[in-house]
Amino acid sequence: MSQTKIFTPNEINKAAALLKAGQLVAFPTETVYGLGADATNKKAVQQVYRAKGRPSDNPLIVHVASFDEVKPFAAKVPPAAEKLAETFWPGPLTLILPVKPGALSLDVTGGLSTAAFRMPENAATLALIRAVGHPLVGPSANTSGKPSPTSAQHVYHDLHGKIAGILDTGETQIGVESTVLDLSSEVPTILRPGQVTKEMLEKVIGAVAIDRHLVDEKEVPKSPGMKYKHYSPNADVYIVPHDLQVWQQAAAAFPGKKVGILAPASILEHFPGTVQFELAPHDTVEEAARNLFAGLRALDEEADVILAAAYPEKGLGAAYMNRLKKAAGGKFISRDN
Ligand code: TXA
Ligand code: MG
Repeated sequence: MSQTKIFTPNEINKAAALLKAGQLVAFPTETVYGLGADATNKKAVQQVYRAKGRPSDNPLIVHVASFDEVKPFAAKVPPAAEKLAETFWPGPLTLILPVKPGALSLDVTGGLSTAAFRMPENAATLALIRAVGHPLVGPSANTSGKPSPTSAQHVYHDLHGKIAGILDTGETQIGVESTVLDLSSEVPTILRPGQVTKEMLEKVIGAVAIDRHLVDEKEVPKSPGMKYKHYSPNADVYIVPHDLQVWQQAAAAFPGKKVGILAPASILEHFPGTVQFELAPHDTVEEAARNLFAGLRALDEEADVILAAAYPEKGLGAAYMNRLKKAAGGKFISRDN
């Protein structure tokens, strides 16, 4: 394949025609861009793994345009799924359900007996799914191991020449991927934190657990994807707490290296003349989550070391810190080192 075409929301039919022909088209969502293929076309789904360089045991999310579209693929739809979809769909919540045997290829499920479903909140993408007439698989549209794409330009950077097209509706709003909730286990369990938090889920369905690997780093994650290297730029990433003295110490800690600073405006202003990316103009975690992956990608072009701001691990902060810790391989700068 040579050219990767960029489609506007006025060209949904062109993008849909490519998908119907078994080609790959990336699509925007409210979280990050996904790499779309017709979920019912085994060959097209296999291409997704190839284009991303993704390990084949890491299953894909099936993106639907309505809750009813889940039914032909799920072995059973528990009342909790229905309630959650009513409350949060379209939106950043992925539901894991037992799959109807044979309804989805093993390439979609990574050989598991469950599958992941989500209805994204993006009008153009919902129209695209409807125009194709089948759900679309959609892993984040980055090269495997790299930060997820929050703009069509990020997708183009990683995948041009490898995919047929990109539907472009500009930058995504949330910036970190959906919450993944396993409804196939006895107690509904969060496998990946996102904007929809444990507290928000519990208001709708009662007790929700958090997968042990998210609490204890030595535990093996239940979500196959969580065990792989993730969100990693080439630069070395370190997490820095919200403390100006530690920032000053961190900025001086890498003599001879090009240091890039990914922090809110209130920190950046103390480091004039350095390589910087504004993470959060008003120092909110919503802004930080929206800009995290773009900041890692931009600073990776210029710096050997990226210093990135920590946020408290509550609300969206849990998702933000989950992604940042993976990008940093767990490396923190603290007052003493
Ligand atoms: O926000 C999102 O969820 C984005 C947008 C494009 O929708 N998609 C996304 O897909 O983040 P991906 O493939 O990068 O992440 C999906 C995660 C992986 O960690 C995968 O292992 C997990 O969901 N997953 C998929 N199916 C699963 C299953 N049956 N059981 C457990 N985990 C599953
Ligand atoms: Mg991903």
